[in-house]
Amino acid sequence: MPSKTFEPDFPTETVKEGRVAVLVPKLQAYVTDLSDYAPSKAPVFYNPVMELNRDISVLALQAYQRRTNKEISICEPLTSSGVRGVRFAAEIHGVSKLLINDINMRAVKVAKHNVKLNNLEKKVVVKHKDANCLLSCHGAPRKRFDVVDLDPFGSPVPYLDSAIRALRNNGLLALTATDLAPLCGVHAKACLRKYGGRPLRTEYCHELAVRLLAGCAATLATKHDIGIRVLFSHSTDHYVRVYVEIGYGAKKADESVKTLGYLLHCFGCQHREPANSLFNLESANCPECGSRMDYAGPLWLGSIFDKQFCEAMADENVHRAFGNSARIAKLLMLTTGEAEATATYFVLDKLSGKLGLPAPPVATILTKLRDAGFQAVQTHFNTRGIRTNAPALEMQRTLRSETLR
Ligand SMILES: C[S@@+](CC[C@H](N)C(=O)[O-])C[C@H]1O[C@@H](n2cnc3c(N)ncnc32)[C@H](O)[C@@H]1O
Ligand SMILES: [Zn+2]
Repeated sequence: MPSKTFEPDFPTETVKEGRVAVLVPKLQAYVTDLSDYAPSKAPVFYNPVMELNRDISVLALQAYQRRTNKEISICEPLTSSGVRGVRFAAEIHGVSKLLINDINMRAVKVAKHNVKLNNLEKKVVVKHKDANCLLSCHGAPRKRFDVVDLDPFGSPVPYLDSAIRALRNNGLLALTATDLAPLCGVHAKACLRKYGGRPLRTEYCHELAVRLLAGCAATLATKHDIGIRVLFSHSTDHYVRVYVEIGYGAKKADESVKTLGYLLHCFGCQHREPANSLFNLESANCPECGSRMDYAGPLWLGSIFDKQFCEAMADENVHRAFGNSARIAKLLMLTTGEAEATATYFVLDKLSGKLGLPAPPVATILTKLRDAGFQAVQTHFNTRGIRTNAPALEMQRTLRSETLR
């Protein structure tokens, strides 16, 4: 039994997640105050809230493996307790090998224990290295991985370049970012420094966060003549997650460069529009209300969900029995609908609040917009959000007509 050979020097407990049982820190032991955030106080990080993130990762990586139609190798260089990597090894079919790693020795010991506990020693190797060192050691052609999953504290950017270099052609990069204060525009300077793009505090700032992260990955990849395609993304709880397929070749990199740009936003009427450059911004006034436009970017202006990939993930979800399956099914239903809709969304409460009107039901406005010939779908980013090609002033008219009815 693994527990006979491993005596942790801090309070632990065994929990079940997906199809595995793992030893993790006993979080109650680290809460002394109501404001305490137990996962980061424990000597080894474990956040039960991220189970959903890991469930969705299992679906995304399985959908990716089925697309490639071959056995895949996976690297998780920031593994902590190993729960994510152990789940990948136990729950994803067609995985040839998994390399998991952490710089924290106590985490490495726990991860090794969890690999043994689940009888996965033949498939999973645990390392104790700096993540960038490890990834750089896997930058040579025959050493690369099919999938690299970066799930860090805060931003994945410090590891992005080495992760891209450690991926094979058509490899998959999975990125978590929990630093939403920079990405959503609360700390705009930090976002510019880290991600190379300007955020904006709009009602669709979480979508901008995804686009800033994807844009940063695209920019770093092009330096190596690598292009990207976003297969899936979501904003859940306190983080955003982006799944990017990379493709080798200068042409693909050029395509990525063309997909980078800006989103112009009018805080007067909520009008927004994409722009390839900021060349004319000084004189750019809102075409709807004439106010001066603000901007976010550079960021990824291409699709942030691939419809077929969302559908493949939804198919996978049907065959799993996660505690979160129903929540995931709803998320995937929404993102499938969003895949072919316009960039950015309107949040009804925000718009109606600005107009001094009561907030209408989402379903009513969706119907009204569709009846008027516009495309209109809900977004997973906000339960009160609508993606539509209706202009901002049309949205205002629709809201007014609804309340004056
Ligand atoms: C958010 S936790 C990982 C959580 C894990 N992926 C999961 O799903 O539970 C981030 C981990 O990165 C590790 N870490 C931080 N800097 C590192 C570095 N430079 N190299 C390797 N690991 C590092 C930390 O020790 C920590 O365990
Ligand atoms: Zn305007």
